[in-house]
Amino acid sequence: MVRIVLVQGDITAEAADAIVNAANSSLLGGGGVDGAIHRKGGPEILAGCQELRRSHYGKGLPTGQAVATTAGRLPARHVIHTVGPVWSGETDRSELLASCYRESLRVADELGDRTVAFPAISTGIYGWPMDDGARIAVETVRAMPTEVAEVRFVLFDASAYAAFEAAVGERD
Ligand code: AR6
Repeated sequence: MVRIVLVQGDITAEAADAIVNAANSSLLGGGGVDGAIHRKGGPEILAGCQELRRSHYGKGLPTGQAVATTAGRLPARHVIHTVGPVWSGETDRSELLASCYRESLRVADELGDRTVAFPAISTGIYGWPMDDGARIAVETVRAMPTEVAEVRFVLFDASAYAAFEAAVGERD
């Protein structure tokens, strides 16, 4: 089973084989984690995203899917870009959020990446409640058959870290 490690900090500093970007479907950058990754990783990442748009995703990357590019100047080897769902109080979009974690691990397996760092997808600009986002992240990673040996959840602040700690402690 995959080992889960919690880290408080900035995901762009992680020397994992792959770091996951909470992107949007344009793949052309934004705020939050996405902004930090493109800013610190340099133009090679955006060039990779533009090429993916041209070759495969003319209309953008659908929510719940994942694709990889170089990590440019970042310590990681790859950036895996995934598009989380925007939180909705009316529609249950949990399956799409779970899909982001599953598809990112599937891409990591294709690349042979053994350590993968995730941010708390959708819990920033996309408004997903942190406790629920943490629970979905941990449950989905635990249930996924993968060759990835270690998943690091990199949480930006103490309250996000506490939410993931609680989710890791909840055994079903
Ligand atoms: N390292 C780790 N976690 C971070 C970092 C960082 N450097 N920066 C923010 N967080 P968000 P989303 C946390 O908004 O909700 C972008 O504009 C943050 O506190 O980055 O999926 C995209 O282009 C939060 O807990 O992603 C999309 O348009 C979590 O990372 C949209 O935002 C995710 O916050 C995606 O929104």
